[in-house]
Amino acid sequence: MFEQIVILDFGSQYTQVIARRVRECNVYSVILRYDTPAAEIAALSPKGLILSGGPASVYAPRAPLPDRAIFDLGIPVLGLCYGLQVMGHFLGGKVEPGLKREFGKGTLQIKDHSCPLFANLPETLQVWNSHGDKLTKLPSGFKSVAVTENSDHAAFEDRGRNLFALQFHPEVAHTPRGKEIIANFVHGICGCGRNWTMRNYVDQAVEAIRAQVGREKVILGLSGGVDSSVAAALLHKAIGDQLTCIFVNNGVLRGGEAQVVREVFGRHFHIKLQYEDASKLFLRRLKGITDPERKRKIIGKTFIEVFETATKRAGKARFLAQGTLYPDVIESIPIAGNPAAMIKSHHNVGGLPKKMRFKLVEPLKRLFKDEVRQLGLELGLPDEIVLRQPFPGPGLAVRILGEVTPQRLNLLRKADTIVVEEMKRSGWYYRIWQSFAVLLPVRSVGVMGDERTYDYTIAIRAVESQDGMTADWVKLPYDLLEKLASRIINEVKGVNRACFDITSKPPGTIEWE
Ligand code: XMP
Repeated sequence: MFEQIVILDFGSQYTQVIARRVRECNVYSVILRYDTPAAEIAALSPKGLILSGGPASVYAPRAPLPDRAIFDLGIPVLGLCYGLQVMGHFLGGKVEPGLKREFGKGTLQIKDHSCPLFANLPETLQVWNSHGDKLTKLPSGFKSVAVTENSDHAAFEDRGRNLFALQFHPEVAHTPRGKEIIANFVHGICGCGRNWTMRNYVDQAVEAIRAQVGREKVILGLSGGVDSSVAAALLHKAIGDQLTCIFVNNGVLRGGEAQVVREVFGRHFHIKLQYEDASKLFLRRLKGITDPERKRKIIGKTFIEVFETATKRAGKARFLAQGTLYPDVIESIPIAGNPAAMIKSHHNVGGLPKKMRFKLVEPLKRLFKDEVRQLGLELGLPDEIVLRQPFPGPGLAVRILGEVTPQRLNLLRKADTIVVEEMKRSGWYYRIWQSFAVLLPVRSVGVMGDERTYDYTIAIRAVESQDGMTADWVKLPYDLLEKLASRIINEVKGVNRACFDITSKPPGTIEWE
């Protein structure tokens, strides 16, 4: 079993960031709703508790408040921002609306260096604030240990009871030494070791999969994306030939994709791989379709049909494996002002209907994306798979504006291959969220040699993002852009112009359709 830290979620947009920071200290963390009964928390035997921030005010009607008994569990508690106010409010302090909303950078002055949260840190720290309310009177038994420009109680503690609170956000990157504060809490105060590693996780996950599946057969829809690939490698390690992976060629894959997947999983890993080439069917159904949402629907529906038929051919399986990740299963807290409440995938093409009566195996559902990548490397998957950028389920169909035809697919595949190659060669591919080519269905005039051309345009898109919900366009160096444009125009016959998309999201979307 892994030692763990429980994080109570009061609706902060940073709750998952707290959980990840704890795990970066090699300590397992779980996120629970703010109102989880203390007895349920105690049953998990956590080594410590962190109260997240949140958009509410503790004195507002229907403010999210925890079970009061969490302060009597005898484990260390750290309250962050709203979590600090919850602590102040429950334990006899006084919280009032601040005159000025404190938002942005601040400077923390540490007054009491014996506070274990600040062990090995300098006297002043740059911190990130985002709060309106302010604690004006400390709860009894507590002592202030640090101040900011705007607050005399930016950090306080009751060391005897192991209760600590911070007004600022140590979890965000704008608090540069915040990770050390979190490490001081989980190691120094809670006494956690460092056993949460993907190497240790493999052993536990393998056992859990075997216990769940027994001698039954498991089917997995392999897309070639990071999640389904890592799930496949993990399941294969656990149950070998009891696993069959189904890979559907939907006709709108990237150039060389089907070969890569067959090479890696079939020939290298010796995973039972059922390759379903349904490209003709998909392209037939996409013929004449120009509306982006209709394209998505057709691809989603056809995928389900093809997959269902393929599962029957794969033999009798009781289980269906899915690469669900932890962020997909964390319950969001529906508090006004919490953007996390709306961040749920809106693109679930490839989602399978409930009527397929399989039991589910979800071996990644405790992991964050960065952990899934580490796990993939641990299992021996190549960088090409583990470090790849996200790719949409409807594939190149949403990157060809207008009708998808074999000729247009051919142009886009060539251009896209060049973009991927050059982005990898320059190292930019691995630094950003996504980079790809889009085929515009307009033609423009050009000259090549002595000849006049009248050809298509490729748009190059490169974006930086944390989760795909918002994105910034990436300022790629001019010489890289030049290389991309000149290779595309010279090597892809039928394209005579390249543009670079400088739209962020919002107001644009990442994909063009
Ligand atoms: P947008 O274009 O909405 O994309 O800004 C956000 C992220 O989602 C991916 N995306 C999709 N993924 N099916 C998917 O599986 C889809 O229909 C789909 N549409 C967009 C997109 O690549 C980006 O990472």
